[in-house]
Amino acid sequence: MQIQNNISLKPYNTFGIDVKAKHFVSVNTVDELRTIFTSEKFPKKFILGGGSNMLLTKDIDALVIHLNLKGKNILSQTNNDVKIEAKAGENWHEFVLWTLDKNFGGLENLSLIPGNVGTSPIQNIGAYGVELKDVFSSCNALNLDTLEVENFTKDACDFGYRNSIFKQHAKGKYIITSVIFNLTAKQHNLNTNYGAITSELENMNIEQPTIQDVSKAVISIRQSKLPDPKEIGNSGSFFKNPVIDKDDFLKLQANFPDMPHYTVSQTQIKIPAGWLIEQAGFKGKTFKNYGVHKKQALVLVNYGGASGNDILKLSQLIQETVSRIFGINIEAEVNIV
Ligand code: EPU
Repeated sequence: MQIQNNISLKPYNTFGIDVKAKHFVSVNTVDELRTIFTSEKFPKKFILGGGSNMLLTKDIDALVIHLNLKGKNILSQTNNDVKIEAKAGENWHEFVLWTLDKNFGGLENLSLIPGNVGTSPIQNIGAYGVELKDVFSSCNALNLDTLEVENFTKDACDFGYRNSIFKQHAKGKYIITSVIFNLTAKQHNLNTNYGAITSELENMNIEQPTIQDVSKAVISIRQSKLPDPKEIGNSGSFFKNPVIDKDDFLKLQANFPDMPHYTVSQTQIKIPAGWLIEQAGFKGKTFKNYGVHKKQALVLVNYGGASGNDILKLSQLIQETVSRIFGINIEAEVNIV
């Protein structure tokens, strides 16, 4: 393990923000993690996964621990069920492609999501009608007090919309080291009901899609709407879609009859934040070298050289404007550091 000093974190966060880590180490094994957490040399530590869900607004005055645990393997396979374990540092999309190559089903709708396997349970990543929890079996996580690895079942993770125990009371207490998935080997359950997938498969002239076709459709939709972090710095959806009381929604709907909405429960309605931000006039707006993506208003972008604070201030302006027009508070989905 080599500890480096004053390292730029620009290559390690998908927003491409150029802040510095006072100390930096890339960790390949759980034992290396234990060594770091046993040593008293660096009392302040900061965990970095795929860097796809954070906005860095300042230099990190700590030892930044880059999780680089690699490996993926088949734990068991019965007739139609296959259990796969992937280590935390595996790139999410490369892992999805690996499962599709083996014709294992379940992750196809989650193709091309930026980030690493280890961070996928933290915010229960989701897209196009599927959430991580639908294919999740359990995860292993290092308890930072005892330095023992504990297994968290699906129930223990307490998943919600972009939420889990790792964002709530287990926050900062564990490092996820690997994730175990329940996938299908033959009879795959396709999720093609999400409007954009149905129409993309029609465009592709595919009537009986395979899991690989669904993945291709998802990749094509994402590429048409979402900026590639390798080209334009971004962190996917910057905000969560707000959930509001049905009574408040009905009042708003009288003024905004076109407002898209999804029923969450008998009393709660989810509104797409992208629509609210677009109505507030921010879609495609550019300020110096940062702004709001022109094809999806939920995504804030760094065209190169913007600071984390520039983007943070823009996000606050968007929140204030949406709140003034609609009376709805939209919350950041990314972690502000
Ligand atoms: N909309 C607008 N303007 C916009 C964006 C969206 O009017 O600029 C409207 C659309 O017309 C549609 C509705 O909002 O009626 C929903 O849009 P979309 O299907 O694109 O999904 P979303 O709610 O904006 C969520 C996730 C995305 C995920 C997509 C597809 C959240 C915060 N975001 O976006 O996740 O890819 O659904 O399932 O839940 C991410 O988390 O990084 C991410 C990209």
